[in-house]
Amino acid sequence: MTYKIAVIPGDGIGREVTEQAVNVLKAVGEKFGHIFELKEVDAGGCAIDKYGEPLPAKTLEVCKNSDSVLLGAVGGPKWDTLPGSQRPEQALLGLRKGLGLFANLRPAVLHSALKDASPLKPEIIGEGLDVMVVRELTGGIYFGERGRDNDSAFDTEKYSVGEIERIARVAFEIAMKRNKKLVSVDKANILESSRLWREVVTGLAQEYPEVEVSHMYVDNAAMQLVKNPRQFDVIVTSNMFGDILSDEASMITGSIGMLPSASLGTGKLGMYEPVHGSAPDIAGQDKANPIATIVSVAMMLRYSFNLGKEADAIERAVGNVLDKGYRTGDIMSKGMNLVGTREMGELIISEL
Ligand code: IPM
Ligand code: MG
Repeated sequence: MTYKIAVIPGDGIGREVTEQAVNVLKAVGEKFGHIFELKEVDAGGCAIDKYGEPLPAKTLEVCKNSDSVLLGAVGGPKWDTLPGSQRPEQALLGLRKGLGLFANLRPAVLHSALKDASPLKPEIIGEGLDVMVVRELTGGIYFGERGRDNDSAFDTEKYSVGEIERIARVAFEIAMKRNKKLVSVDKANILESSRLWREVVTGLAQEYPEVEVSHMYVDNAAMQLVKNPRQFDVIVTSNMFGDILSDEASMITGSIGMLPSASLGTGKLGMYEPVHGSAPDIAGQDKANPIATIVSVAMMLRYSFNLGKEADAIERAVGNVLDKGYRTGDIMSKGMNLVGTREMGELIISEL
């Protein structure tokens, strides 16, 4: 089979981590006999520099005509003073909306070899953590009406039944494949959009009698995540709450450099990227951890191409390299072998 993949290295460490992930992809192709046709395109700050806009039409076009998109990271201090609508982050929003990627899957998994990395006490983290945050990605306050009005400013949170139902369905389906436990997070004690959210999730639950559903206010969820993270399996929530809670969940694992994400729509096409950002402070120094991007490739193989065996092989290779004691700086601890971005990528490939 031939798979067409658009590759967007982006800015900062995005470039170097993507390079390693692409190498892993090529190695998987050779080992398992698949052809991955890669096309590199620009988005983010580098696109602003080259074309004067964060998301050139050609980039979106190439992505639309691909089977999937691999993205490194976008943004950096160089572009921080631009007006909101011209910032590199707009590339992300444009890609999500333009490709119809309404479901954002952010697994927060604490690898057993990295238990010490969690900032939580060992008795709280226990034997590890495996939470899946399902974040709505193309609606809510991110895309609602906003503006200025004399001396005030406003942003609007708006959700339709259809938007809530389709993201909730994704979460129920994932819960069915995991431990059949779903927590829907909202602020239904205050927000009307949250009251609709809760109604729709409750209605859909009828179709999934096996899934144990509960509802939690977002402030409580933020607290519960650090108090007893192991009570969670799948969390489903809105764009804004998901943005915040997924950062919190990833921090609990202590290694944001390890975490992948998938953004999915109704078809097979998805966008896969590390949860971390462009880390301008360490960019170009061969220090960044490429694992988040490498396991994002595994998610791509699993979710977009249905290549579960290949995805498992990548994740196993990563696990083996960690078990052998190799670490990039962000996950370094005493007695381990410190390696750079490139060497980490090469080690994973040789494990494959
Ligand atoms: C994320 C990021 C983005 C978001 C920014 C960079 C636009 O924080 O993917 O979580 O807010 O969605
Ligand atoms: Mg975020």
